[in-house]
This record gives sequence, structure tokens and C-alpha cells, in this order.
Amino acid sequence: MSDALQHIEAEIFNRLSRVIDPELGRSITDLGMISGVDAVPRPDDGIDVTIHVELTVKDCPLSETIIRQIDDAVASYSDATLVPHIEVSSMSQDKLAGLVADLKAERRQNPFTVPGVKTRIFAIASGKGGVGKSSVTANLAATFAAMGYDTAAIDADIYGFSLPRLFGVHAQPTNLNGMLMPVTAWGVKLMSIGMFAGADRAILWRGPRLQRSLEQFLSDVWWGEPDVLLLDLAPGTGDMAISVAQTLPNAELVVVTTPQPSASDIAVRSGLVALQVPMRVRGVVENMSYYDHKGERLRIFGQGGGQRVAQQLTSALGYDVPLMAQLPLLPEIREVGESGRPAVLNQDGTLTGTPLAAEFKSLAQQLMQS
Ligand SMILES: Nc1ncnc2c1ncn2[C@@H]1O[C@H](COP(=O)(O)OP(=O)(O)OP(=O)(O)O)[C@@H](O)[C@H]1O
Ligand SMILES: [Mg+2]
Repeated sequence: MSDALQHIEAEIFNRLSRVIDPELGRSITDLGMISGVDAVPRPDDGIDVTIHVELTVKDCPLSETIIRQIDDAVASYSDATLVPHIEVSSMSQDKLAGLVADLKAERRQNPFTVPGVKTRIFAIASGKGGVGKSSVTANLAATFAAMGYDTAAIDADIYGFSLPRLFGVHAQPTNLNGMLMPVTAWGVKLMSIGMFAGADRAILWRGPRLQRSLEQFLSDVWWGEPDVLLLDLAPGTGDMAISVAQTLPNAELVVVTTPQPSASDIAVRSGLVALQVPMRVRGVVENMSYYDHKGERLRIFGQGGGQRVAQQLTSALGYDVPLMAQLPLLPEIREVGESGRPAVLNQDGTLTGTPLAAEFKSLAQQLMQS
């Protein structure tokens, strides 16, 4: 083969090394997905370039993205007229098993307990149900992502999961030989039991359920190393938070309450779990604090709940547990949320200019201050 053709093959391979597999976050050449590049002269002076691509899973949902990027990489070569041919197949079981084993070895059991891990973990809890934990989790995650943080969120509420609906996710996580890829929506890597159907869901529901499914979500999912991980906990005052503290010792608790006393009393108890396990309570969010109606601020659910929870937790725990946000009662939170887009985001995934988005941004900033 001529040096010129060899040079083209090497050049193309080099360019392909910059194509990143969107799920694994690694270069497709590092992952062994390019099994050959063949350059052959054509009668018309051009050069046929055949690229053999081995996808990790057949009909991988992101294969179109990868192939488009491969096309672009070939097109970026301008010293000759190249005619690309992309031959797609899937990896052999052996090769895939080797790849997954390599990735797993790199990653230890639960990636979030490795010393020095940069991920900040916030578990969103409340005593009472229906106070807006999931809405707060979804909008906060979307806000972090829009602010440029690599963000992940887990629906730890295995019976009352709601993140798939709030993020408009209908896809199933890709299963790569037992390693699950989170589904990305609105810039957030998501994992929820609600994304699994039938038998897969039954498997996740087996055993001592809460802790086991959380552990599975942490160790069997390819998370990379996100800047922020949010957990939407089930309502209740004990079990779930204790499992979280045991599984994720550096998780910090954020307590959501509504303004009325009945909700705030239970919210205090959900924070007091920090007396039993070494988990820091980071702050309190009061949801449905007020409703602005024709220039008048109506306190539909009374007032003072958030402040009360913050004060009681501060005195019980012996460190400052601030009230970090008071969020309005806003029909859009429900309406936009149910349409599959967190209310703080525009269609293009940027933060809206609304006071609500500003509140969430301020909450995100406070949480990231050590
Ligand atoms: N600030 C708000 N303004 C208007 N509607 C809201 C607000 N926060 C939450 N909601 C609505 O209230 C309902 C309950 O909220 P959400 O599901 O987030 O609560 P939750 O605490 O996660 O509930 P559960 O305990 O069932 O998990 C939803 O219909 C949601 O859209
Ligand atoms: Mg919920």
C-alpha cells in the first residue's frame, strides 16, 4: 500500500480518537469500537475510506450520533477527496465482556465513596409526602445542569418514582453486559426504577429493597464522576435517610417542608435522623410559601414552617441549618413539570429569566458553598 494511503488511514484514525461515545464518555478508539480503517483509491481520483465500527450494543440508541460524528471526522480531512463508507456491526460478546470488565475495574464498587471523589451529594427529604420533594429535585437538578455542572439524579423513591415523568423520559437505560447507562434528559443523568419494565423492575425490587436498590443504582450504573448528585428520597422520617447515610457517607440532607405546622413538625423529625447517623443537614427549603395574586402575596398554607424547621434543627444538631429558599406556589411548576420539562428551563435547556429560576439558582449556589 502506498505511503499516502497509509497516511490517510492514520490521519482518519487520529481524528476518530476525538469522537466520544456519549454514554461512556470515552473516545471510540480507546473503547475499541473502531476495528479498521481502509483507504482504497477510486478510478475517479477520489479515495474510498471504509471505517469498521463495532457498537457496544446492537441498535444502540445513540448510534446515529456516533455515526454522524464519524462522518464529520472524515469530512474534516481536506487534503484528498474521501468517500466514506461506514460499516456498522456489534462487538463480540468476548470483546464486550473485556471492555466492561476494564471499565468496572477502573471504577470500584460504589464510585461515590472513593476518597477524594469530587461529587457533592444532596439527598432531598421531607417527612410528609406531597410537599414537593420531587419537583424541587427535578428543578434543582435542571438548574445545576444549566449552570454547567455535570449533574446526576437518582429517584430513590422506588414505589413513588416521579423523575421520568418530570423529565419526560420514556427511554430504557441501555444495559451493557450488566452495567447500566443513565438516561440523560435536560442535561441531567437520570436513573429511576420507573425506567425499567416488567422483569427488570422485579429484579430491582427484590430483597431488602430500599438499600439494595440504592446500592445497585450506585454501583451498577456508569455515572462517571459528576459534580453533583441529587437523590429524591421517599417521604418518611427514617429508613430511607439511614440507608442513604450508610451507602453514601458524604451525602448531605436538604429538608423540604411547606409553611404549615403539621408539615414542619414532621420535617423536623426527618432532619433529626442526623442525630443517629453521621449525615450533615445542609439546609431547609420551604415550598408553596406564597402565591402572588394581582400584586398581593397570599400565604395560602400559613407561614413560618421553613424558619421553624431551620431553627429547631439548628438547636438540635448544634450547627447552623439555614432556611435556603422559599419557593412560590406556582401553577407552572405542576403544568410544565407534567409536560416533561422542569419549569426553570426554556425549551433550549437554558434557565428562564423568571424569579423561580433565580430562586433555584441561588439555592444551587448556596449548596455548593462548602
Ligand atoms: N411550588 C409549587 N407550586 C405548585 N405546584 C407544586 C409546587 N411544588 C409541587 N407542586 C405540585 O404538587 C404535587 C406534589 O409535588 P411532588 O410530587 O413534587 O411532591 P413530593 O414531595 O415528591 O411527593 P411524594 O411524597 O408523593 O413523593 C405535584 O402535583 C406538583 O406538581
Ligand atoms: Mg416525590
